[in-house]
Amino acid sequence: MPLLGRNLLSTSDFTSSRSHRTCVYKCGDACSKPVPNTSGNTYFRDIVRREFDRRSLLRGAGTAAVVVGGGSLLAACGDGSSPAASTTASSSRAAGAGTPSAPAGMRFDMVAPNTKDAVTVPAGYSSEVVIRWGDAVVEGAAPWSVDKQTPEGAAKQFGYNCDFGELVPVAGEDNRYLLLASHEYTTPQQMFPGYDTDNPTEDQVLIEIANHGLSVVEVEGNTSDGHLAPVIGRYNRRITGDTEFLVTGPAAGHDLMKTSADPTGTRVRGTLNNCAGSVTPWGTILSGEENVDQYFAGGADAKGKTAQERFARYGMEDAETARKWERFHDRFDIAKEPNEAHRFNWVVEVDPWDPNSTPVKHTALGRFKHEAAAIHVTDDGTIVSYSGDDSRFEYIYKFVSSKKFVDAPADSPRQAAAARRENMKALDEGVLYVAVFEGNSDDFRENTLPEDGAYDGTGRWVKLATCRPDGTAESHVDGMSGEEVLIFTRLAGDKVGATKMDRPEDVQPHPTTGRVYAALTNNQYRGAARPGKDDEPAMEYAPVKENKNGYVLEMDDDHAGEDFTWNLLLVCGDPGAAETYFGGFDASSVSPISCPDNLAFDPRGNLWISTDGNALGSNDGLFAVSLEGATRGLTKQFLTVPFEAETCGPVVTDTRVLVNVQHPGENDEATVENASSHWPDGGTSLARPSTVVVWKNDNGPIGG
Ligand code: FEO
Ligand code: CA
Ligand code: CA
Repeated sequence: MPLLGRNLLSTSDFTSSRSHRTCVYKCGDACSKPVPNTSGNTYFRDIVRREFDRRSLLRGAGTAAVVVGGGSLLAACGDGSSPAASTTASSSRAAGAGTPSAPAGMRFDMVAPNTKDAVTVPAGYSSEVVIRWGDAVVEGAAPWSVDKQTPEGAAKQFGYNCDFGELVPVAGEDNRYLLLASHEYTTPQQMFPGYDTDNPTEDQVLIEIANHGLSVVEVEGNTSDGHLAPVIGRYNRRITGDTEFLVTGPAAGHDLMKTSADPTGTRVRGTLNNCAGSVTPWGTILSGEENVDQYFAGGADAKGKTAQERFARYGMEDAETARKWERFHDRFDIAKEPNEAHRFNWVVEVDPWDPNSTPVKHTALGRFKHEAAAIHVTDDGTIVSYSGDDSRFEYIYKFVSSKKFVDAPADSPRQAAAARRENMKALDEGVLYVAVFEGNSDDFRENTLPEDGAYDGTGRWVKLATCRPDGTAESHVDGMSGEEVLIFTRLAGDKVGATKMDRPEDVQPHPTTGRVYAALTNNQYRGAARPGKDDEPAMEYAPVKENKNGYVLEMDDDHAGEDFTWNLLLVCGDPGAAETYFGGFDASSVSPISCPDNLAFDPRGNLWISTDGNALGSNDGLFAVSLEGATRGLTKQFLTVPFEAETCGPVVTDTRVLVNVQHPGENDEATVENASSHWPDGGTSLARPSTVVVWKNDNGPIGG
């Protein structure tokens, strides 16, 4: 594993495989900064902590040791046809356990952890790039050349750093699909020849803005393999950091949303840092505006203590941003436009079936670092949206619409369009909630499976605001108006005692069981010994001290109600380590997994997980996890991505797997002239973030 450019800053004590540059440009360097959540929220924590301290005193220190594994993770899995054993495993789980054969959809040879500058897929599978950064999306796009980038050209080409991905069939047209993607952020050092970090040019900034946003691209397949070719079709569209959005929901038009360019507070230029997303049951895209703080300068000097505290809670304190867009655009300077920042960090909705439609920002879903949003529709048509706030010690939210799902016949484009328009209003009316979790094990101790055999417990949803049909919002939070709850949702969560989680990424309901899965990617400050800074101990829902490898949470939610139960499906990491947990499955027979991020489900109901920042020494990858029966918890790696890349946007259909390969070769030294990765084009070429499709060579079902 090359160490060059990995995040080795001694000040950050962050040891995922992410480079510091990735931290700066993807997340605004959040991991090197103080945690913005300084709220108390101590109620459950203190109760459990007191109990824990009391029992620890009674027992002494020598309880419940489980065998800790060792050996090389890079050698833990073979390329062969059967799962290879890791060198050691926890004794309680390995003893007497057989290895049931993998369920349908997971019958492939595990890909071994590796550090190749390549996409590696199982034996008997093939992969190819569908579309690269810079490839044409809309009519008139010039052929991409690193030396001939323009803002106008970039607005017609596939943007940088694809994250969200989806593949949706076009009704009535065989082998024609919409490929949907977001473009989360830009890395100028790897985009522009001779880029001067201290002095970006105005043109470079405009090109970066155009490389943000989303793409809708028609792709054509065939019947013999998984190949997908992009075409300039009637649905193709680029949405950028400059496309007009309509603000909807109760915060639309509020004084805190008004700017000099938009005195109505209802029209916003662009969307930024669009991370993951989903496709709604009515066919639109939901996309989360995530680490938006990195684009706005000067929050610490905002007018008044209240404003300063609000910006601080959203991580917007830097006097100058790394990107320096504020030098050319007043809207990114909080001193000049104090409300522009309030117009980001929302969930946006785009109708990909109408290229002329105005996309919207839904204020009823709250404002925070949305990883994404994903919908479950109950049997009675109630629409429920789940969303995580991806920062250390942030919260999980849901929104229960007061409007019912409007269905439409699949063969009537006109009725489908009318239903889409109606359903797009559903996320403006209803109740916004935040989650509180509690473990059920009196014997919980950090890094140790409780004696009831599961990390599990109960939870409840706490009301934050009710968004009424008349466009107003009722607050359920003392000292905040309904609109303030929506614009400063993090602060509302603090006040009601929401539970601090370990970076909630995707929160996705299963399409058939309705159970809700959440990726909690990592949080090295959990239980860390950092006097005066982080006093959040390990808890049953976040059981690992200095959590480097993350968890996958499973919730059985009363979707429209206020109660749920939960358990940790996976405690990720070295399968040989005591604290890891694979749904009760024999840990000697699974792939090591680290830093779960995006979630998807295959047609057989298995969960697929892409990772970001593998802390076990391998490149990131894509994993399938069985959720049912004797194989529940079986985890198998399906692919790995090139080094210094993140695996994003997984899509698993009957015969294809798609992933977005984000930030290949991104490290602190990489430039256009000194590229680290040369994926996908090889030789001395520049690394280009791209969408990749994988298929089985016999064109059979993925995973048998
Ligand atoms: Fe953009 Fe939470 O990852
Ligand atoms: Ca328990
Ligand atoms: Ca993510």
